[in-house]
Amino acid sequence: MRVGLGLGLVRAGGSLLGTFPRPLAAAASSRSQALVYGQHGHPAQVLQLKDLERAELGHSGVHVKMLAAPVNPADINMIQGTYAILPDLPAVGGNEGVGQVVEVGSHVTSVKPGDWVVPVNAGFGTWRTNAVVSEEILLKLPCDIPLLCAATLSVNPCTAYRMLADFETLGPGDSVIQNAANSGVGQAVIQIAAALGIKTINVIRDRPNLQEVVDRLTSLGADYVITEEMLRKPEMKDLFKKVPKPRLALNCVGGKSTTEMLRHIEHKGTMVTYGGMAKQPVTVPVSAFIFKDVQLRGFWMTQWKKEQTQNKERLTEMILYLCDLIRKGQLTAPVCTEVPLKDYQIALEASMKPFISAKQVLIM
Ligand SMILES: NC(=O)c1ccc[n+]([C@@H]2O[C@H](COP(=O)([O-])OP(=O)(O)OC[C@H]3O[C@@H](n4cnc5c(N)ncnc54)[C@H](OP(=O)(O)O)[C@@H]3O)[C@@H](O)[C@H]2O)c1
Repeated sequence: MRVGLGLGLVRAGGSLLGTFPRPLAAAASSRSQALVYGQHGHPAQVLQLKDLERAELGHSGVHVKMLAAPVNPADINMIQGTYAILPDLPAVGGNEGVGQVVEVGSHVTSVKPGDWVVPVNAGFGTWRTNAVVSEEILLKLPCDIPLLCAATLSVNPCTAYRMLADFETLGPGDSVIQNAANSGVGQAVIQIAAALGIKTINVIRDRPNLQEVVDRLTSLGADYVITEEMLRKPEMKDLFKKVPKPRLALNCVGGKSTTEMLRHIEHKGTMVTYGGMAKQPVTVPVSAFIFKDVQLRGFWMTQWKKEQTQNKERLTEMILYLCDLIRKGQLTAPVCTEVPLKDYQIALEASMKPFISAKQVLIM
């Protein structure tokens, strides 16, 4: 079976938008395996660990040995067939991860054996042991950061960084409110904001081990951690005696959580929606528009990266900034559970359970 050979087509809303930069083929390795799905459905049921054919490196190929790749909600939605972009099938699962360059063709200039690399765009199919790809779809990473940081850097911390940087001009002392604050993105928001002196008000769902999660987020630099129920209580007024009302709200959830969060946003503040974990629409009280003139925006990292295809300067600048925070100990990987590739079903099931609070990372 030849998976990922050539370029697949990306479907969004049923129309064909362009090419999906998938790896050229499996690499020249006797143990080249990948998690492949031939139809959409429940991930643990439709994914299979398969051996792939050996590929030629050629003059412009880069042989990447994948090291570690997380299971993100977008990966699950892609396999379920509910994500905004879908590869042609069969496809290899996974969009994020870090690999090491093993060998390069004679025309390759931007990477060399030993380098750590991450995919530039979604659709790479990172849940595999090896791939031969073209250098354009790779971004070099410094290899002096921890492996789990590298494996989880290019989606969530980048999303957190862009949302903090691109929608409101925030400075030390300003505040941001976010829900699903214990998510991968949420943990990155807490740490990047803390490094910039921005206060965070972090909303999470109530749970049996609430104090444990509160303590963990506080140790990352969260200023306030509250439950969704607390958002509706009059005591919120006391909180805003200590911290200014947020000009930026980051919405990962939708539904009631979003409506309640919006009540606390500053006049003319912005709410950025980047996730819809509750699978509920965003409902906005008319008062938020009339009396507060709030702005509702959205963010999609995939689109942002696509817009940088011609010029990777801003992408590289962001990655280097984040790596710097990692080296200074100001940005850590989310809590991760490392799972060998062969035990992928355990990782997939765990990633879909509520209150797990740990990112499942496949180790190749
Ligand atoms: N737009 C973009 O560019 C972009 C980029 C990255 C991520 N995302 C999206 O952001 C979201 C989080 O991604 P991630 O990788 O950070 O996820 P993650 O680490 O797996 O965390 C998932 C989070 O969602 C919460 N959650 C799950 N179901 C929920 C529900 N029904 N109601 C409220 N909260 C719920 C979880 O809270 P509990 O602990 O309470 O279960 C947890 O905080 C996903 O929707 C993802 O697709 C978007």
